[in-house]
Amino acid sequence: MNTTKPVYILAIETSCDETSAAVIENGTVIRSNVVSSQIETHRRFGGVVPEIASRQHVESITWILQEALDQAGLAMKDMSAIAVTQGPGLVGSLLVGVVAAKALAFSLGLPLIGVHHIAGHIYANQLVHKLEYPLISLVVSGGHTELVYMESEGSFKIIGQTRDDAAGEAYDKVARALKLPYPGGPHIDRLAQEADGEIPMPRAWLDDSYDFSFSGLKSAVLNVLNQSRMRGEEPVAAHVAKGFQSSVVDVLVEKAARAVREYGAKQLLLAGGVAANRGLREGLTKRCAELGVPLLLPPMDLCSDNAAMIGAAAFLKWNRGDITGPEFKAEPVLSLEKWGY
Ligand code: KG4
Ligand code: ZN
Repeated sequence: MNTTKPVYILAIETSCDETSAAVIENGTVIRSNVVSSQIETHRRFGGVVPEIASRQHVESITWILQEALDQAGLAMKDMSAIAVTQGPGLVGSLLVGVVAAKALAFSLGLPLIGVHHIAGHIYANQLVHKLEYPLISLVVSGGHTELVYMESEGSFKIIGQTRDDAAGEAYDKVARALKLPYPGGPHIDRLAQEADGEIPMPRAWLDDSYDFSFSGLKSAVLNVLNQSRMRGEEPVAAHVAKGFQSSVVDVLVEKAARAVREYGAKQLLLAGGVAANRGLREGLTKRCAELGVPLLLPPMDLCSDNAAMIGAAAFLKWNRGDITGPEFKAEPVLSLEKWGY
């Protein structure tokens, strides 16, 4: 490998409802990161419609790839490798990215690197922070809630995960019950910040386990809403939002802090769409200051799905010469532990 020429990875992310392409230099520098969100399209259905998502990816992928190269000021011939989200995600959405990546890699004679979506969320932090191992990652997204112990670069051990809804999913369901637009996470977050009161909600500690559960909390919120509405009253949405958010944040912060202590982690890293939550960022900041452990927060624009994070994670594999073979296919269900080392 020529070490003087920069390594440029052209990365693609299409696992859900964002079509994105990025050019990443040496695994850490964002030369471009173009994201086209389909939120407006799916909002009227109250959630992502898989069929529509794949069709929109097909329509956007070509111009997004070109835009990523243009914004980076580079051409296809400058690229060192093509990276793409292999899974997990919606199969029809993943397929669009995977087919585009395969076609590019084959026609340009470039190596192809399949990336685990959650590894991408975690390694988004490498675009702005220096990671030190061992570390604990708290992954909170629309489909995942996990505590991951990382002993070294690219090694993932899931020590706790949700037993039912993911954190983002719970946010979206509670938001829907409060008649807020999709995706509801940012709306609940805003209401919770503005609230001048709070309706107390239960916390699912699940004893000593690092697992999470949010379905009981979701039911508690629905009960409060139903009981009020049966009395002909509408509860103050901000008070409900604040009670819900306090419960989610308390449990996430305490379990993450306990994992940091028990595993002797040098850093706590936050990742995933819900990492944009201001209550969670504040709660973790306070707790990590008490523990004296550095907290790595992704910048807001790298919390939600984007291809820059996929390029950052792909660089790990590039460094090890771990290139995906032609048998590679989209994997709607993919193990993070097996993808890593
Ligand atoms: O990681 P992501 O973009 O997609 C998945 O890989 O799932 O996460 C999307 C999730 C949605 O559930 C959305 O409501 C949630 O992240 N989210 C938030 C906030 N911003 C986005 N949840 C709580 N507070 C926020 N500020
Ligand atoms: Zn995601």
